[in-house]
Amino acid sequence: MLRGERVTLRGITRDDLAHLWRFNNDLVVELAGGGDPPRPQAYERLLADWERDVARGGRDAAFFAIEVEERFIGQCGLADISETHRTAMIGIAIGERQFWGKGYGREAVALLLEYAFQHRNLRRVWLWVHADNERGIRAYRACGFVEEGRLRQHVWSNGRYVDAVYMGVLRDEWLAREMP
Ligand SMILES: CC(C)(COP(=O)(O)OP(=O)(O)OC[C@H]1O[C@@H](n2cnc3c(N)ncnc32)[C@H](O)[C@@H]1OP(=O)(O)O)[C@@H](O)C(=O)NCCC(=O)NCCS
Repeated sequence: MLRGERVTLRGITRDDLAHLWRFNNDLVVELAGGGDPPRPQAYERLLADWERDVARGGRDAAFFAIEVEERFIGQCGLADISETHRTAMIGIAIGERQFWGKGYGREAVALLLEYAFQHRNLRRVWLWVHADNERGIRAYRACGFVEEGRLRQHVWSNGRYVDAVYMGVLRDEWLAREMP
């Protein structure tokens, strides 16, 4: 649905689920992503969630599969979309680790920002990331995000507390961005 130079963002299909299940059970990916504490997920639960969602009909939420070279490598999307404040939070996880650090993450985030500002008429997009997730922070900076604050020692992750870094980008900043 959204096409960049190398990255396509499209709906998540049944064929993606086996890969997604593998990503969701990869401790390294889970710890890098940094949401809730890692917990195992049975394939059947993932499938049941997906089938329940599909049975509702209509359109997908603002969540996308990340496809590179016709391969499903992860997912990303907008959450907590507020029509009052015109804000949304970005979430992203590339589960195929060999695809990390090759610029695909920033391309996916750039496509999401275009979707948020151009198609959903949002005004502000934000995210939070572990302070030690340098790969993520650098990718977000490259897309125009700036650090807006940090919650000190906010997250218990892999045996220690880490800061949560809040980053955001405003529509006007995005419009004024330098085009590659
Ligand atoms: C975070 C994530 C989306 C970034 O996507 P990506 O494709 O890996 O990132 P990019 O290649 O676009 O950019 C990576 C940046 O980090 C740098 N980098 C690469 N490997 C690194 C490493 N091991 N340590 C620190 N920095 C690294 C790159 O040089 C680049 O920065 P630069 O352009 O300033 O030089 C992806 O790595 C991912 O999904 N990781 C696992 C889950 C996760 O962390 N989710 C985000 C939670 S907020």
